[in-house]
Formats: sequence, C-alpha cells, structure tokens
Amino acid sequence: MSTMIEVRNLSKQYDPKHPPAVDNISYDVQAGELFSLLGPNGAGKSTTIGMLCGLLRPTSGDAKIGPYSIRTATLAAKRLIGIVPQEIALYPTLSARQNLHFWGQMYDMQGKALSNRVEEVLDQIGLRERANDRIDTYSGGMKRRVNIGAGLLHRPQVLFMDEPTVGIDPQSRRAILDMTKQLNAEGMTVLYTTHYMEEAQELSHRIGIQDHGKLIALGTLAELTRLVGETDTLKLQVSELADNTETARLDLQLGALPGVRNVTRQADTLTLLIDNANTRLAEVINCCSAVGVHITAIEVHEPNLEQVFLHLTGRALRD
Ligand SMILES: Nc1ncnc2c1ncn2[C@@H]1O[C@H](COP(=O)(O)OP(=O)(O)OP(=O)(O)O)[C@@H](O)[C@H]1O
Ligand SMILES: [Mg+2]
Repeated sequence: MSTMIEVRNLSKQYDPKHPPAVDNISYDVQAGELFSLLGPNGAGKSTTIGMLCGLLRPTSGDAKIGPYSIRTATLAAKRLIGIVPQEIALYPTLSARQNLHFWGQMYDMQGKALSNRVEEVLDQIGLRERANDRIDTYSGGMKRRVNIGAGLLHRPQVLFMDEPTVGIDPQSRRAILDMTKQLNAEGMTVLYTTHYMEEAQELSHRIGIQDHGKLIALGTLAELTRLVGETDTLKLQVSELADNTETARLDLQLGALPGVRNVTRQADTLTLLIDNANTRLAEVINCCSAVGVHITAIEVHEPNLEQVFLHLTGRALRD
C-alpha cells in the first residue's frame, strides 16, 4: 500500500498569545483508506484540513499529498484533492446544476465533459429531480449533498470531508454516510472529520483522536478500544425464574465463569461485565440452560470511542 497523505510535525498557531490550534501532529493515511479525525469543538480538525488543502499556511511542519509537499508544491497537491468544507460553500440563488457547473469551471472543466460530469454527480448525490431548483429552497441535508457533489466533480484521488453531517435529518445523514462508504469502496482516499463517535466507528479503517490541537490516539477501532481494556458488556434477557433460590444460583454460576467480572440484574435483564464476550457466549448460554433458564435476547456491547475519549482525557466527548 502506498501513502497518500503524509503529515509531519504539522502545527498552526493563529495567535502567539494562545496555544496552537494544531500542535505537532504526524501520521500517514494510506491510499484507499477511510481515515477519520474525531474530536470535540475547537480540537483543530478544520485547521488541520485547511492546511492539508493548502488554504492555511502551517506555522511549522509539513505534509504531502501523494508526492507533493503542501508548502513547496501546493498547486500540484491541490490537483489531487477535493474538499467538502464544514460551512456550505454554494451560491444560494443559483440552482444545484448551476452551482456544480460553476465549481466544475473552477476546476478547469468545460464543455461536454463538464456537462456530462455534472449530470453524473447529480445522480450520485440523488438530486437530479431537484437540480433546477434554487439552493435556497433546499433542506439542510440537500445543501450538504450538493456541497459534497462540488468536491467530487474533478474526480479527486483524495477527498477531505469536514463534518459533512452536522445539523441534518437522519435520512440525509444516512445518505451521506452511505455515499462516503461507496466513494471509498471505489478507491477514493477519504479524510473525514467528525465529533460523532458513531460515524467514526461505522466508517473508518483507522481513527485519529484530536483534542486541544494534539493527536492523542491513533488506530483501528479495535486498537483504540483496547486502550480501555477488553471488558465487554453482555445483556441477557431471560425468562422468569421460579424463585429467589434459582435466581441466586444462576447469578452465582454466571459470576464464577472465567472472564466474568460482575453480574447485575434488573427485572428480567442480566448485565454481565465480561472479558472478550464474543468468545464466551457458549459458556454463558450453557450455564443458563443448566439451571433451566431460557434466554430470550442477547446483546453484546463492546467498549466504544466515547469510553476511549473519557479514558484519555477525563472528559466526555459530548461535553
Ligand atoms: N481564523 C482563525 N483565527 C484565530 N483562531 C482560529 C481561527 N480558526 C480557528 N481558530 C481557533 O483554533 C482552534 C481550533 O479551531 P478549529 O476550527 O480548527 O476546530 P474544529 O476541531 O474544526 O472545531 P469544530 O468541531 O467546532 O468545527 C479553536 O480554538 C479556534 O477558535
Ligand atoms: Mg471544524
């Protein structure tokens, strides 16, 4: 695999009186990878993207897009990238089709090639039917989709998507997440920023967690959640137990299984804290059937990025 984005000791300090917005960050994103930057408001995600797109000059450090330095070969680097900015960048009084034509021209496209490509992109973002309506008559989710379309016109190798699902309805959000996965499946390298841990979890091959300008963790979801430990939460819904003696016996036997750290009960739901739950399900089920208890539902909850962030910073990601 080849490296598509190489970030080296990248920093940005807007004001010497304040700490840097991006503080000495380094990582590589591989070609074809979907990489998420997860972090709360003000973490420095947009500042990072601004530098990687050649819109903001780094205070120190460098980055490459493919072989091109964003400092010394900015134009060549820019030719490889598409950007979906956090703020909608569309002309409200123009239609979606006119906006896409305009942005295509900015990428040096013209004539039949541009017209054909605009229609292709309209299909891709699912808005061909509304393509002649003015942007200011669109819903937030539709504007977001056109904003993404504008970044795709010139078939970039790398797409930067800066919080593309903020403030939109669940259906548009779903459409954008699916589109992002589809683009990546077709080979596009994607750098996606979000403060929604569910999105980072669903989409990414790897996730970088950024906080106060610093990259505080980097890895696959499995690698990151391992920082919290291997303890999963297993919820068992069970049939009614005959009496208290039977209840106590089941709790005792489950508690004695290897890897089980804790058993609690609320009505007909048992909650087990258990190491590597997925490899231990059979033992848990056997244990229940041995005392004649019928399981009606099982849910395994692995540790999530919320817990990882809490573990690393002492704060909740949603604060
Ligand atoms: N043009 C600017 N001039 C001065 N400070 C800025 C500028 N842009 C951003 N900052 C500051 O840099 C820090 C990082 O901001 P940035 O927009 O990169 O964060 P973010 O992770 O994208 O946040 P959000 O999730 O709210 O979009 C913040 O403290 C912000 O106030
Ligand atoms: Mg931002």
